[in-house]
Amino acid sequence: MKKVLVTGGAGFIGSNLCDALLANDQYEVHCLDVFDDFYNPALKRNNILEALKSKNFFLHEGDIRNTTFLEKLFQQPFDIIVHLAARAGVRPSIEKPLLYEDVNIKGTINLLEKAKEKNIKQFVFAGSSSVYGINPNTPWSENDFVLKPISPYASTKVACELTGHSYSHLYGIRFISLRFFTVFGPRQRPDLAIHKFFKLIRQEKSIPFFGNGETSRDYTYVSDIVKGIIAAMHYDKSNYEIINLGNNRTINLNMLIAAIEKEAGKKAILEKLPDQPGDVPHTFADISKAKELLNYSPATTLEEGLTAFRKWFDQNYSA
Ligand SMILES: NC(=O)c1ccc[n+]([C@@H]2O[C@H](COP(=O)([O-])OP(=O)(O)OC[C@H]3O[C@@H](n4cnc5c(N)ncnc54)[C@H](O)[C@@H]3O)[C@@H](O)[C@H]2O)c1
Repeated sequence: MKKVLVTGGAGFIGSNLCDALLANDQYEVHCLDVFDDFYNPALKRNNILEALKSKNFFLHEGDIRNTTFLEKLFQQPFDIIVHLAARAGVRPSIEKPLLYEDVNIKGTINLLEKAKEKNIKQFVFAGSSSVYGINPNTPWSENDFVLKPISPYASTKVACELTGHSYSHLYGIRFISLRFFTVFGPRQRPDLAIHKFFKLIRQEKSIPFFGNGETSRDYTYVSDIVKGIIAAMHYDKSNYEIINLGNNRTINLNMLIAAIEKEAGKKAILEKLPDQPGDVPHTFADISKAKELLNYSPATTLEEGLTAFRKWFDQNYSA
């Protein structure tokens, strides 16, 4: 049995990963989470309700910035660290750059230090498509230049990839950064477009509609992302890799809203607003490297994913 530490394990992607690992009796899953107030912590507690029933699931409530807490936690051995805990979100990072720096960069270094001390050789990191900034050469490849991020959040993700390289080089820790492209599906964060739009449509409130509707995203379903993470947990062909996990297909804002209206069975009321600073106009992943190294093959369409999201949303919000 492999002992896996999932930081941010009660969050959107983390809790979906924990459930998938628990479904497969090969893993002892240790979830580290601080249940921060970036969004309602009750949603995160709800995310892990099923996992808590498993004998292979262990919850460690604490902060990745707290070295005393980490010291105690790492008294037990782990085989793999999947580091997903972070302050996420582009726009709030512009308001609180120091907090983002503290949690995302310092927190990551704290965990890399523990990997070094405890000889943990596999470190999978949640990178982000935001590192590509405004890059007109789509689809984006891992070889593209990423030293011009346009938000503090994106800067922290670039910094972590660079720091990961140092630790990989110095201490032989295998560091795999997975650059996620707009993840959606059950338990999606409430600040992200699909969750937010669904809620507003259902409440018959207006949806903030930034720009002319032509901005586009490469939406990737959470189970596809989880499969990519699990493959990265077992990847052993090289010691440092950066890998896009996207869908290789873009959906613009107009198309997204039409698809949500169809799924919700209601028309959206749009509040037209100017483009947002820090937001990149388009994201589009080249996933050939993920296919080659991880046998990654995203299979869920936007429509299938929206249906799964709506079912979760209805269950969750009626409760
Ligand atoms: N959701 C996406 O579309 C997306 C895209 C690109 C990258 N990412 C990255 O993937 C990771 C997971 O994102 P998510 O959407 O699941 O976000 P999330 O906010 O739902 O999950 C993050 C979790 O980390 C926890 N956390 C935050 N600060 C912590 C701290 N100091 N100590 C311990 N735990 C802490 C939070 O309580 C939360 O449960 C993040 O690193 C994010 O930057 C997400």
